This record gives sequence, C-alpha cells and structure tokens, in this order.
Amino acid sequence: MTRKMLIAGNWKMNGLQENRTDFQNMIDGISPSAFDLHDVLICPPATLLHTFSKMAKGSGMLVGGEDCHPAASGAHTGDISAAMLADAGADYCIVGHSERRADHKETSALIKEKANAVLQNSMTAIVCVGETLAERKSGNATEVVTQQIRASLPTAATAKNCVIAYEPVWAIGTGVTATIDDIAEMHTAIRKLLHEIGGEALAAARVLYGGSVKPSNAAEIFAIDDVDGGLIGGASLKAEDFNAIVAAAG
Ligand code: PGA
Repeated sequence: MTRKMLIAGNWKMNGLQENRTDFQNMIDGISPSAFDLHDVLICPPATLLHTFSKMAKGSGMLVGGEDCHPAASGAHTGDISAAMLADAGADYCIVGHSERRADHKETSALIKEKANAVLQNSMTAIVCVGETLAERKSGNATEVVTQQIRASLPTAATAKNCVIAYEPVWAIGTGVTATIDDIAEMHTAIRKLLHEIGGEALAAARVLYGGSVKPSNAAEIFAIDDVDGGLIGGASLKAEDFNAIVAAAG
C-alpha cells in the first residue's frame, strides 16, 4: 500500500512573533498539489501554536506541539498538557525527541504515557527514536531503536494515530546525515518490528527520517522505500529551505 508522506518541521526553541512571516511564506510557497499529496506540518514552540493554527486554517498546512506532559491538568508548573495543545489547534505532537530524552532524562516509559495523552486528545503522536554514536559504533543501533519503540509506543498505536521518527542522535543538527544504506536498513528493521508488534494495522504507520535533512539530500532520502517523509529541524526554520524539502517529496 502507498503511505502518504509526512514532511514535518520541528522549530525547537526557536521562533518569535516576527517569524509569522516565515510561516506565512511556507503556506504561500508550497503548491496546493503538494498539500494534497502529502501531509505538511510545522511544530512551532507552544507560544506560537495558536497563532500558527489560525494562520494555517484552510491552507492544508498542519500544526503540532513539540512535547506534552502526560497528565491532563494539575500542579505541573511550566508544563503543557496534550489537551492544551489540541485546544490551541494542534493536529500532531512530537514525543520522545532525543533532546528531551537527553536534556530532561525522559525514559521510554514516560514517553509512552505522553504518547497515550496525545492519542486521548485525538492528535497524532510522532514518537522519536534513535541511537547515539557510541551505540552505533558498538553495533547496537538496531537493538537500541527496537527497545525504544517497544517501550515508547502508545498502548492504542495504529498506523492512523502514530508516526515513528527515526533520528540518529549523531545526525541531529550536526550536518552529518546517515548514509542511504544505513537509513534503508534501519527503516526496514523498524517496519518489520511494527509488523511484529501490531500486524498490518501498525506496519502501515509512517516512518520518518530525521537528522540534517536539507534541500540537497531530501529527494534521495525520501526515495528510500521505507522512508515516508522527514522530521526537519534547522532547515524547517527558513521558508526557502523547508519549501524546497517539501518539493523534494515530489
Ligand atoms: P536537524 O534536526 O534537521 O536540525 O538535524 C532534526 C530534529 O531534531 O528533529
């Protein structure tokens, strides 16, 4: 079966009100046929989410959160619940990004709870996984990613409500991209694992690649059989680059 590609931008801790112009340039610069063919998503910081969601209305552009707290509400100063993101207009929410796993010591068990909260609020979860350079060098990349997926996937995961983003930690923000062979091998392993966990219903989930995707390498990466789009960090901040990456999806 053919899977609809998802081209997702992750703005991380970047973006002020003045960057509405960049977002508008993305909306205006992406062709209507690309919006029809693919899902195109920007995950801005939470402070811009509601504004972006209003700007995106009717355009085909989707917006999402970068992270959420697993609880519905309560005494968690500074945190944002999945319900709040949905209320601000989010269609998707990223969970388990390697920067959260590293900076905030997030475990796969916590990420699973967050992903459950995303699904309970009728959004799609983008569950991030990926090995460190040391883990790759020691030959454990597939095992690490397998364990992360098994432990982080939400309980009710299906191909409709869940997306996996494979992002080798050493390729994020470094300008170094995994080789085409390495990406293909990992994505095939992930597809097989999804089948093992949830049969056909889960094996049809989209598996994105992330880590220094840019206009110059996007087409080659998106052409890999089991790659269903990308999670784009740095190159999603500039409309010119992001729009070129969307165009590379064909
Ligand atoms: P990058 O980030 O494209 O800047 O490498 C990707 C990500 O962290 O999602």
